[in-house]
Amino acid sequence: MKLKELESCLQQVDTFEEPKILLEQYPTSAHIAACMLYTIHSTFDDIEGKLVADLGCGCGVLSIGAAMLDAGLCVGFDIDDDALGVFRRNAEEFDVCNVDLVQCDLCCVETESYAQRFDTVIMNPPFGTKHNQGIDMRFLRAALTMASTAVYSLHKTSTREHVKKKANDWGVKMEVIAELRYDLPASYKFHKKKSVDIEVDFIRFFKT
Ligand SMILES: C[S@@+](CC[C@H](N)C(=O)[O-])C[C@H]1O[C@@H](n2cnc3c(N)ncnc32)[C@H](O)[C@@H]1O
Repeated sequence: MKLKELESCLQQVDTFEEPKILLEQYPTSAHIAACMLYTIHSTFDDIEGKLVADLGCGCGVLSIGAAMLDAGLCVGFDIDDDALGVFRRNAEEFDVCNVDLVQCDLCCVETESYAQRFDTVIMNPPFGTKHNQGIDMRFLRAALTMASTAVYSLHKTSTREHVKKKANDWGVKMEVIAELRYDLPASYKFHKKKSVDIEVDFIRFFKT
C-alpha cells in the first residue's frame, strides 16, 4: 500500500465524539498517522507480520493503519470505553480482523505481565498537560516494558532533553526520526483559535 493511499483511508477513521479533556483525547491526524506508520513499516520493518501494541489507542487510527500494513495483530489499550466503542465501529467499517482491544488504565496496569510480549509498541500518549504531569513518561515506561524490539512515540519537542535523560536512565537508545507540527484542532471550548500548532518529536526507542 502506498503512503497516499494509507493517508486517504485513515481520513475515513471516525474520531472522538465528545473528547475528554482530562484524558487528552486529541486524535492523531490521518497525515501524521500515515507518515508514522509508513516509516515504521518501510524503514524499520516493524509492522508487517509483527505483534504490535498501540497504547492510548483512542478511536484506533494508529491500530487500524497498522492492521492495513499487515500487522500480525495490533492490540489497542485505552482507559476510555467510549473511545473503544468508536474504535470497534471503525474496525468493523474497515473490515480489519487483525486488531484487538484491552480496556485498562495504563498508569496502574501491571505491565510486567506483558513484558516483551509485543514486537513493536506505537503510541501517541497524553502529553501530561492536564493535571496529569508525568503521564507521558509512565506510558513510555510501560511501552518499553512491553516491547521486545522498538517503541515509536510522539513527544512534545520542548520535553526532548527530559525524554533523553529518562531513556538514558532506563538503558535505551532513542532517535528522533522527525520533527512534526501537530495541528491541534479546536475541539474544546477553551480553544479560542481554530487550531494550534505544537512542535512534536516522532521518536524511535530501541534496546542495544
Ligand atoms: C492523544 S490521545 C491519542 C489517541 C489515539 N491513539 C490517536 O492517535 O488518535 C491519548 C489517548 O490516551 C488515552 N488515555 C489517557 N489516559 C490514559 C490512561 N491512564 N490509560 C489508558 N489510556 C489513557 C485517552 O483516552 C486517549 O485515547
